Amino acid sequence: MSEPKSKNIHWHGAEVTRDEREEILGQKGCVVWFTGLSGSGKSTVSRRVEQKLLAEGVHTYVLDGDNVRHGLNRDLGFSPQDRNENIRRVGCVAQLFADAGTICLTAFISPYRADRDQARKANDEGRFVEVFVNTPLDVCEERDPKGLYKKARAGQIPEFTGISAPYEEPDAAELNLQTAGRSIDECADDVIAYLRTRGFIS
Ligand code: ADX
Repeated sequence: MSEPKSKNIHWHGAEVTRDEREEILGQKGCVVWFTGLSGSGKSTVSRRVEQKLLAEGVHTYVLDGDNVRHGLNRDLGFSPQDRNENIRRVGCVAQLFADAGTICLTAFISPYRADRDQARKANDEGRFVEVFVNTPLDVCEERDPKGLYKKARAGQIPEFTGISAPYEEPDAAELNLQTAGRSIDECADDVIAYLRTRGFIS
């Protein structure tokens, strides 16, 4: 990451360690980074994962593109530069949640490989799980839950991912999640099973 603009700032080490927090929580903090086209199922699956984990007493938090763009990132649009900044900020916020011991689920298109890699680097080694929500464009377009593909095809939304802006598929995601023809529960269970094998939850 680039150098901070501020000078004369000093990093404060924690008195309470992550290990201590995690011992109380009985889980290990991590970032589960969902990436995929609009309508691929990122939000839906991440929220189902959250519901299921909550039922098991696991602490989670979902950061979602549409929501974060109402607040923290309300100053950003969809140019490549703004998406880069969107993902940079979210990568840092997610790291804070993971450091606090939370299973932080993020649902952002994050279409650029370099931006996702930057988010990964902002996080601790082995605590970043990239989940490619691998739903073909024609299926997303068919679902079109927000009617945005229709608008994008009509030329009413510039730089729309998959139509007039690129989506770079991950080549080394920890999890490749196919959603077409599968239920939300099945997809969520795949994610949870993976988190278990990695020891983030028991
Ligand atoms: S990202 O590319 O910067 O990661 P993000 O996930 O925050 O995108 O926001 C995507 C959401 O914004 C979409 O689900 C959709 O609802 C909305 N949206 C509005 N305009 C666009 C656009 N041009 N491209 C993609 N999504 C858009």
